[in-house]
Amino acid sequence: MCGICAYQGPETKAVEIVIEALKRLEYRGYDSWGIAYKPAHLDQNKPQEIEIYKEVGKIGDFKSSYDQFGKSSFAIGHSRWATHGGVTKRNAHPHISENKEIVLVHNGIFENYLNFKKYLEKKAHTFKTETDTEVIAHLIEEHYKTHSFEDSVKLAVKEIEGRYAILVINNKDNTMIAARKGSPLIIGVGKSKGEYFIASDIPAFLPYTNKVVYLDDNQMVIVENQKIRFFDNSTQQAIEKRIIEIDWDIESAEKGDFDHFMLKEIMEQKDTLSRSINQDPITINKVARAIENAHGTYLVGCGTAGKVCMVAEYLFAKIAHKHINFSFGSEFPYHQQFINNKTLLIAVSQSGETADTLEALEVAQKKGAKIISIVNVEGSTMARMSDIVIPIKAGPEKAVASTKATTSQLAILTMLAYACDGGVEKGKQLLIATAGQINDMLNPRYENHIRKLARKIRKIESMYIIGRGANFPMALEAAIKLQEVSYIHAEGFAGGELKHGPIALISEGTPVIALVPNDETTKEIISNATEIKARGGYIIGVSSENHPVFDYWIRVPDTGATSPIINIIPIQILAYQLAVLRKNNPDMPRNLAKSVTVK
Ligand code: F6R
Repeated sequence: MCGICAYQGPETKAVEIVIEALKRLEYRGYDSWGIAYKPAHLDQNKPQEIEIYKEVGKIGDFKSSYDQFGKSSFAIGHSRWATHGGVTKRNAHPHISENKEIVLVHNGIFENYLNFKKYLEKKAHTFKTETDTEVIAHLIEEHYKTHSFEDSVKLAVKEIEGRYAILVINNKDNTMIAARKGSPLIIGVGKSKGEYFIASDIPAFLPYTNKVVYLDDNQMVIVENQKIRFFDNSTQQAIEKRIIEIDWDIESAEKGDFDHFMLKEIMEQKDTLSRSINQDPITINKVARAIENAHGTYLVGCGTAGKVCMVAEYLFAKIAHKHINFSFGSEFPYHQQFINNKTLLIAVSQSGETADTLEALEVAQKKGAKIISIVNVEGSTMARMSDIVIPIKAGPEKAVASTKATTSQLAILTMLAYACDGGVEKGKQLLIATAGQINDMLNPRYENHIRKLARKIRKIESMYIIGRGANFPMALEAAIKLQEVSYIHAEGFAGGELKHGPIALISEGTPVIALVPNDETTKEIISNATEIKARGGYIIGVSSENHPVFDYWIRVPDTGATSPIINIIPIQILAYQLAVLRKNNPDMPRNLAKSVTVK
């Protein structure tokens, strides 16, 4: 959700570097974009005119030559996901202050911006956009009349309420200042002397460097005179930060031969499950003990990660005979009366940056609860807020619809449930066998079989998914997957719930996917499918065995307790195929963003 990137260094193609970096951040979701840069030919000793270029729409549509921008060693860029003000060129970032001295890009929301807008209007500032961001640029300029650039930014960040990441430049010198609170910012340390990148996510600068510094909340980075310094805004002290070398390579963040990241990531599940269960046994046992000793454990996540938590609730009950609570991140604050210093919160997140889940962590932290996170993005805010981190190890997930991170999260939670029952090795063996089955399943013939179904149902308006037990939350997850990329109205239900209302929606030919594992739910879910068929429903069975009630059978291997992992994979493929057939972009569905950093 919104992307920031910046370059400063010896290269004279800063604009190209920044625009290409914005392309690598496209997966975050955006509707317009822009850059600001300083042409290299200008006399460095004079106040420098900052050039700004903005567009509405996709950066991929930008086909012009980079030559039009001339040479530059200093550029910032932004991809905007509209919050305040419509999707227009004018509202796109960067924003510029009254006297054109300050230029700024911003992710997040400046919650109290209206107060400052009024205050600045009284001081003769005029605003050209409806954005909260423009107000920050003017606010910094107002301070800049009586303070240094650095102090002006420091004063402004004290005044901003809300979650944000800002990146500010001025027209007098080549200083770049970035500050964060609740929205990610990472500094890339380039290979050449004095070369730095600042971005919302690592893939932005991955072709250039894997040396990174994670900025924490209330921290600021100042890039000037070919050096970087850090400052803590809460203690008002200069601080030292560690440079970390990450082991992501650029291939893992590129599409390669695949048409879309979503398909690439679905196929990567041949390997990702094995990687995710390859965890340090000491950490897994430590987490199992923490669950044993906690006076109440909450699993917290949003969207797909939330559905994974719901599955885990069933798995812990069945495998470890343990009750674990679940809450969506956005709902967790309403449970806070139950949270104390003996509570354990386990956050599940691909990005580690989802605002609603982060808020849950903040609430739990204030109450002294222990925090464990299961996250994919190394060094993310959630990881850094946690007492223990279990890395998902799925590699960069760029398609908005989560696939490989989902199954890896499920695998880790399954392993934890077994660990709580004292059988971590048994769980691991089961998951290794499941990984092998996924490897066999993901072949072109399987894809074709699902594509055939996608062609059959591509024009339908609504579809439903049913499951029971641990496959009920997977029915909910299947619905999310179908909604977000195919834009077909899809809803998941607990099989037994249909007759309490939703069955009224079934008419001749309504497609209903039944998740039918070989377990204690088999008989009942088949009977639910039969009830639907009797009302004209078209039954698509996801099962290891064909049943007479199925109109279309999608075969999956019988993997026992890991059926939620196995059953969601064909639905991921179906959702992808439907998206392609319906001419949607599966990687960047409308209205959605990969990392939801606003509440
Ligand atoms: C759906 C999807 C979202 C995310 C949710 C949480 O495919 O990806 O529902 O699961 O926004 O994101 P993370 O896992 O990054 O916290």
